[in-house]
Amino acid sequence: MGMDEVGREDLGSLHGIPFYKSFIEGWPQVEAFQARHDDLLIATYPKSGTTWLSEILDMIYHDGDVEKCRRDAIFNRVPFLEMKAPKIPSGVDLLEKTPSPRLVKTHLPVQLLPASFQEKDCKVIYMARNPKDVVISYYYFYQMAKIHPDPGTLAEFLETFMNGKVAYGSWYEHVRGWWEKRQEKRLLYLFYEDMKKDPRREVQKILQFLGKEVPEETVARILHHTSFQEMKKNPAANYETMPSSLMDHSLSPFMRKGWPQQRPTCASPGARCTASLWSTPSPKTGSRWTNSRA
Ligand code: A3P
Repeated sequence: MGMDEVGREDLGSLHGIPFYKSFIEGWPQVEAFQARHDDLLIATYPKSGTTWLSEILDMIYHDGDVEKCRRDAIFNRVPFLEMKAPKIPSGVDLLEKTPSPRLVKTHLPVQLLPASFQEKDCKVIYMARNPKDVVISYYYFYQMAKIHPDPGTLAEFLETFMNGKVAYGSWYEHVRGWWEKRQEKRLLYLFYEDMKKDPRREVQKILQFLGKEVPEETVARILHHTSFQEMKKNPAANYETMPSSLMDHSLSPFMRKGWPQQRPTCASPGARCTASLWSTPSPKTGSRWTNSRA
């Protein structure tokens, strides 16, 4: 391993949530983060369509100007609040240099969100994705992003995921925690699957939530530019420009499939865990995802 390589390391724990050790080191700066009233927070559990939603919002913020949205990589256009790694600016450092109105990305479970977002009454858009697809996406992400511990086999990783022992903890607690905050926060709760099914309707929901009206041709441009095919080939959106020491795209591309996933077939004990995962109730209807095509 060279000097600049990021080694695989076990996760630490932040208030009981499994978390990257380097992020824990940066935590005091995150906790003290000063939100601004016009910040828009994009909150997700990992692998739930964060980058997709971020690109859509950056396009909305730039009135569908594709060139402006190529000005920098997505991880600089929409800084990742709790990100902290050696030798690169932290998420908070980047955000402090970002002019308002800012788009802020976080994967934090709701109970760990810095107080300032509440104090400033910031708008939040949360996006949830079917756990069956999240876990597969996360498995490949663990392989390519070297900040993660070795995921082991898929069957092993399914167990780890089901036990909430992955980075950011339990998927179920995460989607439920944010779902329950809908009452007290200015929060729009979206689903990856709805966005996939009818992106125009979901983008309209976002525009309405932001109180923004845009002409139909702008909506069409936003939808085209943020389609899976367009984002996959866009170096400003597909994470290709991340140093390969952090993300190794030869192991798995960041923009992998975007749906549908292969339903994994694995022997026990993975099979047991897969079976229970495949019947995970949704926080909303309890049956939303039971007929998913994963
Ligand atoms: P897969 O690994 O299933 O392909 P995040 O940005 O939260 O890390 O989520 C990454 C997942 O979102 C990946 O899922 C990626 O392919 C998918 N994704 C990214 N952009 C997308 C788009 N425009 N349409 C559909 N899925 C997209």
